[in-house]
Amino acid sequence: MKMPKITMKDDTLALLKNPYRFISSRSKDLGKDVFETRIFMQKTYCMIGREAAELFYNPNYFIRNGASPEAMRATLFGKGGLQGLDGAEHTHRKIMFMSLMTEENAGELKHLFTEKLRHYLKHWSLKEQISLYDEFQKVLTETICAWAGIPLDDEEKVRRTKEIVSMFDSAGSKGPAHFMSRLSRKNAEDWIENIVNDLRSDGYEPLIKTPIEVIIWHRDMNEELLKPHTAAVEILNLIRPVVAISVYLVFIAHALHSNPDCYEKLMMGDEEYALNFIHEVRRYYPFFPSVMARVREDFTWRDIEFKKGSRAILDLYGTNNDPRLWDSPHSFWPERFESAAVDEYNFVPQGGGHPVKGHRCPGEFFTVELMKTALNFFLYEMDYEVPEQNLDIEWSRLPAIPQSRFVISNVTQKTIFVRTTVSQIEISEFF
Ligand code: HEM
Repeated sequence: MKMPKITMKDDTLALLKNPYRFISSRSKDLGKDVFETRIFMQKTYCMIGREAAELFYNPNYFIRNGASPEAMRATLFGKGGLQGLDGAEHTHRKIMFMSLMTEENAGELKHLFTEKLRHYLKHWSLKEQISLYDEFQKVLTETICAWAGIPLDDEEKVRRTKEIVSMFDSAGSKGPAHFMSRLSRKNAEDWIENIVNDLRSDGYEPLIKTPIEVIIWHRDMNEELLKPHTAAVEILNLIRPVVAISVYLVFIAHALHSNPDCYEKLMMGDEEYALNFIHEVRRYYPFFPSVMARVREDFTWRDIEFKKGSRAILDLYGTNNDPRLWDSPHSFWPERFESAAVDEYNFVPQGGGHPVKGHRCPGEFFTVELMKTALNFFLYEMDYEVPEQNLDIEWSRLPAIPQSRFVISNVTQKTIFVRTTVSQIEISEFF
């Protein structure tokens, strides 16, 4: 069978205009999980669905080296980091990265995050209104830098927050915003590279290491330290995505506001329901639209010929919203996770497959834990109002967020709450 082709004209503009729905709508029209087109002037296989995800994450068929466009490497990912590695070199460095994702480290991160939220809450309550997207970016930058061992004085906070945000929030923009994103990466890499050089300068490798020191003193497969620039890219691979969780935190607020019945249920204190709510936020709302790879060698799948060196794009958002995998995918319904048979390839908001053996996001555990912390904070520690605003999601933007960035007003510290679960009792000790 021949690969289904709808057209060989370049579809880059169509994809950029509709990054979350281009692949799913074209694939629905064709009735195929894989179709061929041209993106950025190159032959590209667009893939969607569980089986396609399983294929995409098989390293025998796809590699990552040189897969992402230069514009993404110069802004979002950086050059020389995990995203572009393959095989043993990738596994070796990924194991180092995963060694940071422990329960203990997550506990410390959550503790710092809660402290910062409580500190910021006092400022928010003095203001008429605040933009949650902007405020969470500041809270998360301060949290992750404190956790990772990166000094950040008051003067630097604003500047570094802007740089980190610009790397993920403007990477997909056009014109000046995109160039600001490139400049921000360059400045942030210089900043972190200086820290790397400073910490290496006396040649003393500490026995007990902060997270950034784990990266700074990591040795590659040839027993060599990473080049300062590469170490900076990997440290930013830790910092930038944690700050990007601000997108999910805005979506938590959006989901609470749009689904009052969920809010009521969450207030009952059922922790399993709370976790399902968070998974549903990650499934239902858009964030990372897709991931890219290159075909390793010619191969045939379901009679379709994949040509060596061609690009492949797996639609993550489309797979999370595939009606063959998820009933009524466009309804927000946390209860679906009570019975959903979730596996490595059907629920892929942070990529699929195995996090050590492949490119699946190493930060999924931290993401869920920080989302849980923020959800508890919304429920049990703060009261606020949601004034009239445009909460429609900007689907053509990367990342997609509500038009208004989610504004809240009349923020106050909550003083009365129901003490039903262990986590709430812990919270009550604060007062
Ligand atoms: C905001 C929540 C997050 C989302 C939506 C997200 C999403 C993703 C996605 C889609 C990938 C690509 C998977 C692939 O290439 O197949 C990825 C990779 C990655 N993420 Fe995350 N991520 C998030 C949070 C985090 C956190 C908190 C960290 C670090 C603490 C992190 C670090 C990374 C790294 C280093 C990679 C590259 C992994 C590799 O290529 O092996 N991410 N993430």
